[in-house]
Amino acid sequence: MCTSPRDACVYLWNIFIFYAMGCIQSIRCKPKSFRDTIIILDVNSSIDSNRTSIDESSNVVLRYRTPHFRASARVLVPRTALKETWTVGWIQACNHMEFHNMYGSYGVSSWELPDLREGKIQAISDSDGVNYPWYGNTTETCTIVGPTRRDTKFTVSMNDNFYPSVTWGVPVSDSNLPLLTGIRRDQSFTTWLVAINQASGETLVLQTIRWRMKLCIHIDPEKPLGERASLAEPTTQEQPQILSKNEPIPANALVKPNANDAQVLMWRPQNGDPILVIPPKY
Ligand SMILES: *[C@@H]1O[C@H](CO)[C@@H](O)[C@H](O)[C@H]1NC(C)=O
Ligand SMILES: *[C@@H]1O[C@H](CO)[C@@H](O)[C@H](O)[C@H]1NC(C)=O
Ligand SMILES: *[C@@H]1O[C@H](CO)[C@@H](O)[C@H](O)[C@H]1NC(C)=O
Repeated sequence: MCTSPRDACVYLWNIFIFYAMGCIQSIRCKPKSFRDTIIILDVNSSIDSNRTSIDESSNVVLRYRTPHFRASARVLVPRTALKETWTVGWIQACNHMEFHNMYGSYGVSSWELPDLREGKIQAISDSDGVNYPWYGNTTETCTIVGPTRRDTKFTVSMNDNFYPSVTWGVPVSDSNLPLLTGIRRDQSFTTWLVAINQASGETLVLQTIRWRMKLCIHIDPEKPLGERASLAEPTTQEQPQILSKNEPIPANALVKPNANDAQVLMWRPQNGDPILVIPPKY
């Protein structure tokens, strides 16, 4: 069937009204908030599959290097008329730390976070100590200054691993006599992808990841340097979990002190009172 010229005219008029209304509406409506427009295109997180490597080249310390935890996200912030500045990036906190170096029947040295250990706080910031609350400020964050003329697409990424030195000799003695018999470590972290409004501090949690690093090294102090240490289970790490429901960020995950400055080294002898070997840095 054909459309009469009059019907066509009514049809066109209706289209005109439809668009005119849409136009008026878009002028009247407030620009959509950052919260409603930001899009996470994809998020990846993993722990490298290579094993912890052990370095016995020094006769003072044993060094080891764990595989890297990695997280990256591709984010789209549509063009905005809002005069707002937002930083999007990664924040990390440590939830649990067991880090024991065993010296046979002499005792154990351990790196500890006293407030976490005593349950006074649930988590402690793992910021680089400069760019609070962010984990870092190179690849870890991106700042969008509105208004913007076009869509902004970017990737923010971070990585973490442990690369410590542990003395062969007991830490309260001047002797390098190799007495170290084992290392046991179990640490867990929460890592958040977050957007923070730089003027108001409004914080949006966009993604939450949980991960854990477990490590056990057996050491035979009787053996010559270079042949003492061997990696025990687990030789592969559990993969990080990207949570389907976000978790809120505890206050201590956002402020000083960070884990690095708050940690203390204790010497816990088999007999006698514990000794504080390295006090906190703050
Ligand atoms: C594991 O492999 C990655 C990527 O090849 C590398 O960057 C990292 O240093 C390696 N880590 C260890 C513990 O060997
Ligand atoms: C996530 O991993 C996939 C597959 O390896 C890759 O194509 C994508 O670019 C990654 N995305 C990010 C944000 O790293
Ligand atoms: C990162 O932070 C440091 C210390 O605050 C600053 O000197 C540096 O310019 C920052 N880098 C970037 C890329 O923002």
